[in-house]
Amino acid sequence: TYVVNEQCIKCKYMDCVEVCPVDCFYVGENMLVINPDECIDCGVCEPECPAEAILPDTDNRAEKWVEMNREYAAKWPNITRKGEQPADADAWKGVEGKFETHFS
Ligand code: SF4
Ligand code: F3S
Repeated sequence: TYVVNEQCIKCKYMDCVEVCPVDCFYVGENMLVINPDECIDCGVCEPECPAEAILPDTDNRAEKWVEMNREYAAKWPNITRKGEQPADADAWKGVEGKFETHFS
């Protein structure tokens, strides 16, 4: 599976949802997650994200995000169309530690 990490938080560009062939993205207030049980590992979303927030679970930085993505995919609504990104999205790009301070 592929998963979304904290780099999505407050960036939420949503380019990813437009390319997913199985519509397995779910949306919270400040970030999106992938349902790891629905993702077919096609990889097309990874290069679409301007924040480099999507990574495969084979990446050693992905482990903590797999369970987090699974948990919130079960709670949040599905998203298949790009909405309006946050006005300050670019200011949050690459900021570290967003999960601790701005996750919701
Ligand atoms: Fe969707 Fe493919 Fe990305 Fe998985 S890897 S979330 S199936 S676009
Ligand atoms: Fe987030 Fe990147 Fe998608 S910032 S909403 S994972 S395009």
